[in-house]
Amino acid sequence: MGDGARISRRDLLRQGALGGLALGALSATGGAVLAACGSSSATSTTGPASPPTTAPPDTGSSRWWLEGNFGPVRTETTATSLSVTGALPTELTGLYVRNGSNPLQGASPHWFLGDGMVHGVRLEAGGATWYRNRWVRTGLYDHGGGLGASGAPGGTATLANVSVVSFGGRMLALGEVGVPYALDPADLSTVGPSLADGGGNGNMTAHPKIDPATGRMHSFGYGFTEPFLEYRVHAPDGTLLSNQPVALPRSVMMHDFAITGSDVVFMDLPVLFDMQGAVRMVSDPASGAVPYRWTPAAGARIGVMPLGGPTSAIRWVDIEPCYVYHTINAVRRGGHVVLDVCRLDSTFGPATLASASTRHRWTIGTSGSRLTFADEIVDVPPADLPTIDARHRGGAWRHAWLSEITSRPGEVAFSGCQHIDMVTGRLDRWVPGPTRTSGEWLFVPGGPGEGEGWVLAFVYDAVTDRSDLVVLDAQHVARGPVAEVHLPVRVPYGFHAAFVTV
Ligand SMILES: [Fe+2]
Repeated sequence: MGDGARISRRDLLRQGALGGLALGALSATGGAVLAACGSSSATSTTGPASPPTTAPPDTGSSRWWLEGNFGPVRTETTATSLSVTGALPTELTGLYVRNGSNPLQGASPHWFLGDGMVHGVRLEAGGATWYRNRWVRTGLYDHGGGLGASGAPGGTATLANVSVVSFGGRMLALGEVGVPYALDPADLSTVGPSLADGGGNGNMTAHPKIDPATGRMHSFGYGFTEPFLEYRVHAPDGTLLSNQPVALPRSVMMHDFAITGSDVVFMDLPVLFDMQGAVRMVSDPASGAVPYRWTPAAGARIGVMPLGGPTSAIRWVDIEPCYVYHTINAVRRGGHVVLDVCRLDSTFGPATLASASTRHRWTIGTSGSRLTFADEIVDVPPADLPTIDARHRGGAWRHAWLSEITSRPGEVAFSGCQHIDMVTGRLDRWVPGPTRTSGEWLFVPGGPGEGEGWVLAFVYDAVTDRSDLVVLDAQHVARGPVAEVHLPVRVPYGFHAAFVTV
């Protein structure tokens, strides 16, 4: 089922209150040593302002996303005077903020489907002035949180739990299906929906791309009713410049895409919306049902069109069924688009969240009457959650950082940081330790050259049950931390971060 047969919005609403869906990336378990010597001298915690939590956490062994450091935190904390080991670069002045899934009710039917919670650390001239974590006050949050809280997915019925993006003077929390929510970088409070005016369904991917040549933001939004996909361009000030439907035969889960300096690349991959799964998930959250289904018989294809559109000019090429949560970067080289991705054999299949991600280089020939496609496997340890120097988005690039994966049945677990030099082929790694683990690493520029700067991530320590914000020299990750900001609480494994300087 879930072949994406025509589904009307009325049908969706009639089927029951399927709340917003938000899917992100993948994360880790573990934890360990490295003498966390920090503590907070000023910490306050509060529960959710409204509404209160009512359900106890479900700690059934099959629901691993509610256990250990995958499990949600139940309070909102404000901590100041954070201690630091090492020396924070003075140039790192701004807010590191990371989004993730943290069910308001204490439980969710899937790791990806909890209410969005952002965790932020303010860095200032070599110091760390505060840590805060706050739920994003979405329409779903206001109705009690989670799926089934209000109406059909999309718009303000979003979990807003996947990423944070700084654009047009706004700090935006983004989910899988729904409108962006603006947050106040001063205290992580929710300002409200943003960038939704005139944008068709208003839904926005958690992975928009900002073209460094123009400052414009290219994005898409998918939904469960036609048009199943829309492509948008926003001016640097946040003004919507265009919104165009992209013809798709069915609703698919489209988590990411790519741009070059002259192209947009879409991935139409066989994770299909599954109405029966959606209804079952809402009616019986413990069933394990989810609203997406791996359906390789539906086929897979890559679409290429001019940057900015028109979407009617898109051309497609069939590929072997697979799934890609995250592209790394793309660049046009003559008559080819070269796209690096973290590729999975499948996801949302019957048994596992996902297979392990491997790095692939896809080369798409565009000069002939038909697109061509070549797939090259890059032989490095499995990794995902890529970050690059965003000043090289869509252009020639050299450096990437990824979170290394350790596979285990039923889940995907990340361990440390990989730095890949695409020119020399050199792979540098840093693994926090046997019981310490990181999530996504975020590159933050510290100089004019590509890759000059730092990579930052929350690292969880299972011994202390607390987390640190770890800073590595982006060019020398194997040397270990330049600095660590010690937090008085743990930060659950989550998804994507941003460094905001407004
Ligand atoms: Fe993602």
